[in-house]
Amino acid sequence: MTIGNINLGSQPVMLAPMEDVTDQAFRLLCKEFGASMVYSEFVSADALIRSVSRSLEKITLSDLERPAAVQIYGRDVDSMVEAARIVESEAHPDVIDINWGCPVKKVAGKGAGAGMLRNPELMLQITRAVVDAVKTPVTVKTRLGWDHNSIIINTLAEQLQDCGIQALTIHGRTRSQMYTGLADWEPIGEVKRNPRITIPIIGNGDIDSPERAKECFDRYGVDAIMVGRATFGQPWIFREIRHYLLTGQTLDSLTASWKLNVLRRQVLQSVECNKKSELSGIMHVRRHLAASPLFKGIPNFRSHRIAMLRAETVDQLFSILDEIEHTFILTE
Ligand SMILES: Cc1cc2nc3c(=O)[nH]c(=O)nc-3n(C[C@H](O)[C@H](O)[C@H](O)COP(=O)(O)O)c2cc1C
Repeated sequence: MTIGNINLGSQPVMLAPMEDVTDQAFRLLCKEFGASMVYSEFVSADALIRSVSRSLEKITLSDLERPAAVQIYGRDVDSMVEAARIVESEAHPDVIDINWGCPVKKVAGKGAGAGMLRNPELMLQITRAVVDAVKTPVTVKTRLGWDHNSIIINTLAEQLQDCGIQALTIHGRTRSQMYTGLADWEPIGEVKRNPRITIPIIGNGDIDSPERAKECFDRYGVDAIMVGRATFGQPWIFREIRHYLLTGQTLDSLTASWKLNVLRRQVLQSVECNKKSELSGIMHVRRHLAASPLFKGIPNFRSHRIAMLRAETVDQLFSILDEIEHTFILTE
């Protein structure tokens, strides 16, 4: 599959854009474990134009994580065009992705993100203007529609394609669903079967295992899949998915100690990439660790989880991980 002239190989598996999650440290790890392309956290067009330092930080890419997409959101033509130009000249991303899918009130409620599903005319106008304003390939990530009475994705996909976007990611939920219920992949498959659609379709929603990843490719015919929440605390899921897609076998060789070492590296990378302070790097990463599926099902684990969430330094976090390894993992 290609986006513009970026070759992503066959059956690409993307790391979803996730605010407060897909910072550079995490993207680098996911890339290392086989993510075909990674996406930045979404960045507000208005904040970029005002040069808000956190937004400029968010669009900083390292060559090691390429191909990488920077995602922007906003609600008017001029600011989205200006933001896309800033992103292109400052970050040189491989792809600029437009967010027409964020459901949260402070974004969608103001007409940006998924809010634009209620105003497709403006969505298309902005998309076309951004495509025309930059040389970088532009893609879109969106949802099925505003609510179950307005599933517009099939027509919308054609219209977005006509604006010149080079790939479309579809999260199989409506805005009203937020993150509840199950993602519905049927409309994604329908877009993929639409003979008018020639751009790659990236399917997204609830992929949480290598088996489900394969099923999404096989049943819905998508060109690529995108994984979000299932990466929390287990960036190695990309290696597991890749292996399964390639061989049809589950990858059993990743030991719990190896996985703990990955988490230790994630801590170090988070502190290194976080320019502000050790504490802010730790605050960012400790939630990931506490949520890691690696610790699921370990009896009496609660106090360790709380200790992880309270840790303030690398040393504290490492000594908790050492204790977990000695108490629960090496004694398995
Ligand atoms: C914490 C969190 C932050 C997210 N931030 C973004 C974002 O910045 N941009 C975006 O397009 N989607 C964002 N999403 C949505 C995900 O990219 C993805 O579409 C959604 O989680 C469904 O995929 P999943 O079931 O694999 O998690 C976010 C989701 C979560 C859970």
